[in-house]
Amino acid sequence: MALYREVAARIQHQIEAGLFAHGERLPGVRKLSQTMGVSVSTMVQAQRLLEDNGVIAARPRSGFYVCQPEVADRPLPAGGTSATEPVPVTTGEVTLFLGQLSQQKDYTQLGFAIPHTDFLPMRALQKSLAAAVRQFDERAAGYTSPGGNDALKEQIARRMRFAGSVADTEDILITGGAQEALTLALRSIAQPGDVIAIESPTYYGLLQAVESLGMKAIEVATDPVEGISLPALEMAARQWPVKACLLMPNFQNPLGAQMSDAHKADLIELAERYDFMLIEDDIYGELSQTGQRPRSLHSFDTVSGSGAGRVMYYSSFSKTISPGLRIGWLISPPAWRLQLRHLKQILNLSSNSLAQLALTGYLQDGGYERHLRQVRLRYREQIQRISQAVIRYFPEGTRISQPGGGYVLWVELERGFDSLVLCQRLFELNISIAPGQLFSASQQYQNCLRLNCAQPWNAALDQALFTVGREAEKLRRAG
Ligand SMILES: Cc1ncc(COP(=O)(O)O)c(C=O)c1O
Repeated sequence: MALYREVAARIQHQIEAGLFAHGERLPGVRKLSQTMGVSVSTMVQAQRLLEDNGVIAARPRSGFYVCQPEVADRPLPAGGTSATEPVPVTTGEVTLFLGQLSQQKDYTQLGFAIPHTDFLPMRALQKSLAAAVRQFDERAAGYTSPGGNDALKEQIARRMRFAGSVADTEDILITGGAQEALTLALRSIAQPGDVIAIESPTYYGLLQAVESLGMKAIEVATDPVEGISLPALEMAARQWPVKACLLMPNFQNPLGAQMSDAHKADLIELAERYDFMLIEDDIYGELSQTGQRPRSLHSFDTVSGSGAGRVMYYSSFSKTISPGLRIGWLISPPAWRLQLRHLKQILNLSSNSLAQLALTGYLQDGGYERHLRQVRLRYREQIQRISQAVIRYFPEGTRISQPGGGYVLWVELERGFDSLVLCQRLFELNISIAPGQLFSASQQYQNCLRLNCAQPWNAALDQALFTVGREAEKLRRAG
């Protein structure tokens, strides 16, 4: 066995034996290498291996910490149920209110899934922004070329290869975040009154887009491990004139489900058979906890050839670099290229040129992969810590999802529980959560809630989770 592997195994054994507690900082690399009688470079390799295996995690400028143990195999939330018929969507004002709360500095933000700046590459991004300002000449100050900045589209096309997707830059459209990409995709495929199949539960922003375009949603049962149920989707497509299915095959929000490759290939085949389009939201695709970037649904469309042209894909840099830049992208089959550019032009001519310049510089500089590598491991640690706190503080019988990526947790309390009432109580205690009702067109999931785990772990966060658990228990007892 290579020496660094032996050293890693020894450190892991020491952690398991309780020599280093979970959450404790490991001694510095020099000290550890001296104690173990190995060179600094061997110790660096050993630490990297432990980091890849999720045993320790690096914190910027602070060193390595021991991760929480995996949450044992606990029963998962039940997942979603299908609706019997398509319905017009009305999402109400709770999301607007939550959005306002997300700006409040004195709130613990467990509601909206916005990453705290601690998880964003702030310094590198500031440098790229400053460089972009210097390059902001006559050309850059105007609208970008149709579809967006060409160099940025090239960077995106390269990154798409990690997801197995082959994309021509001509088929990439730069958008104002994923939300605009979603609206463009829906507008190009369907008309008001048309039926869109959605996962249940699903991210409320998707429901809002369907609502704003006057389309109807048919909810399809979605499993916390496997994702959307294909038999349930087939049943919906047999009964109703489904125009498109809108879904998150990788690290579904809110369940964290991850569709297998076989499932993805079958889904394309199903869409082909029942003649509907697939709209893929892949915003969390780069945040796999294992570092293994899952394939996009899109990659099965273009590579297999069967049903090619069935998938419209979109994503953005909001979860990994910065939501404030408002840059996303949409990849469409070639036949849709012109129509989408036309729609984009009508909507807002082109996306922000300065943000595109800065992002291009950041991606070209090559630090993105390193950032992703760090942040994926940190999210894994966050998910573990917050899951542990939920197990410790929430009422007996509470179930939590076990996502393989992304940074949200879906929490299921006992039947009859009303998470909207909990949410209102918590507002007064300066804590925000996302109540389960927001994730359904028919206000199902009252007994569920979603927690945002992209908040730095500290005593205040632990205390806030304790408070959520305590208030949930009070409500449960009150009946
Ligand atoms: C699944 C999903 N899609 C889309 C969005 C919107 O992303 P953007 O900020 O890029 O518009 C979000 C934001 O939370 C999301 O979670």
